[in-house]
Amino acid sequence: MPFRSDRWWRHAVIYQVYPRSFADGNGDGIGDLAGIRTRLPYLAELGVDALWFSPWYPSPMADAGYDIADHRDIDPVFGTLAEAEALLAEAHEAGLRSIVDVVPNHCSTAHPWFVEAVAAGPGSAARELFWFRPGRGEHGELPPNDWQSIFGGPAWTRTTNPDGTGGEWYLHLFAPEQPDFNWANPKVREEFEQILRFWLDRGVDGIRIDSAALLCKDPELPDFAAGDPDPYTDRDELHEIYRSWRAITDEYGDRALIGEIWLPDTERFARYLRRDELHQAFNFDFLGCHWDAAALRRCIDDTLAAHRPVDAPATWVLSNHDVVRHVTRYGRADTSFALDHRQHRAPTDRMLGTRRARAAALLSLALPGAAYVYQGDELGLPEVEELADEVRQDPMFHRSGGADVGRDGCRVPLPWAGRQAPYGFSPAGSDATPWLPQPADWAALTAQAQRDDPDSMLALYRRALAIRRATPELHDDRLDWLDAPPGALTFRRGAGFGCVVNLAAAPVPLPTHTAVLLTSGPLADGLLPPDTAAWLRLR
Ligand code: NOJ
Ligand code: CA
Repeated sequence: MPFRSDRWWRHAVIYQVYPRSFADGNGDGIGDLAGIRTRLPYLAELGVDALWFSPWYPSPMADAGYDIADHRDIDPVFGTLAEAEALLAEAHEAGLRSIVDVVPNHCSTAHPWFVEAVAAGPGSAARELFWFRPGRGEHGELPPNDWQSIFGGPAWTRTTNPDGTGGEWYLHLFAPEQPDFNWANPKVREEFEQILRFWLDRGVDGIRIDSAALLCKDPELPDFAAGDPDPYTDRDELHEIYRSWRAITDEYGDRALIGEIWLPDTERFARYLRRDELHQAFNFDFLGCHWDAAALRRCIDDTLAAHRPVDAPATWVLSNHDVVRHVTRYGRADTSFALDHRQHRAPTDRMLGTRRARAAALLSLALPGAAYVYQGDELGLPEVEELADEVRQDPMFHRSGGADVGRDGCRVPLPWAGRQAPYGFSPAGSDATPWLPQPADWAALTAQAQRDDPDSMLALYRRALAIRRATPELHDDRLDWLDAPPGALTFRRGAGFGCVVNLAAAPVPLPTHTAVLLTSGPLADGLLPPDTAAWLRLR
């Protein structure tokens, strides 16, 4: 199937596949490439433009595959490199582009470079590829600096010398199984340029860069007090790296370079999106924003204003594999989210959250730029908060001593069909249990149950994606706000497409229109009820 446009990523809808939890093809209870291949028709019918695959590489899975031992192969639990190549080809045939996840900040302690570095000892060239340092304190028993791991605890782990005494420490901004690369070393740069080419040569349409702002560190590795700017983000060397990556992707034609950047400062964020750097980066302000008209409008305006000078498309993300699913967030009293404000187990009203999630889908898919859908968003899945401690796998849970329950609740295997777990996640006849248990009350949320129900979340997503695809006004960068009653958001895209979202407590009238294209819930006497959105033809 020929693709429709150049620079497709400017207005694409990108579906995040988390392979471990998407679909299990071989019946071991863990999602895999065979499972994804059987579900390509579902994804094509859904109407998304591209698939982003979270890491599928060989990994000890200390952080669900974000601890990579070999960037050029596939973990046997997911399949083989040949299967990945077949998947990429079949996705193209189905009209779907593919984006692979590249993790340049760190690797796995099982990566041959790290194994060699540990064995080679202090002062070796092998250790120069990472951040090995002697400890502080009389016997080197204290970490080299005060940096904290993003998963909790110190960002340093001490090695053990062959004679059993304590050795040097190595830096890991995430889990101890994820040693940070030293990006000041040319060998690291060269290696990743080859990795990019490896996947671009296999026909991927884009690269998603994990933890894209963290790669380069101040070589002095200074302590920093809470509130100080951290000594790793936004360093000039990092921008230089992305310029070289951009030159490589440009060589291959219409491929996208996408960064994962958690940076609340929109100006610094936009620096990564300059003409010769990344094509786009995730906008997490929108994800974290309160379900509140004024706050959302401010977020949308700030986002668009930050992207305009660099002429980069904005991105709109509601959920991903690191955050509490938005059906659950939007049903809470406090609807905001931040990585350090997860509010696990805060009471939530699932009906209210679902209603808002439906409206949020129409809002995010009507905004200018690219939109991301995390697998299961289209089924309206809630966060699974009731997971027992024993089944939790996220290092965030273990590193924080359970203080933060972590991210397993948004990674529960998808329900495809049937009345009970595993809901068709594994092939018929398999008696494997999914790697995380699915709730007993998900029968109504399966893809099969929703397929023929015109009021389902799945039906809403399909219709919205079909309209978005067929509406040229939704493919450019313009947005004009229209007058709206208090608590409502109303904007126009191009001359004739309108979107209204009612976040007020009472119904609001619709602006003058010639047709109602889609609503996230029924109108009441021609009025738009609370927590409901409508797409309109204005003229
Ligand atoms: C960001 C990824 O999205 C997250 O899942 C992972 O744990 C960290 N980077 C470390 O790779
Ligand atoms: Ca499997």
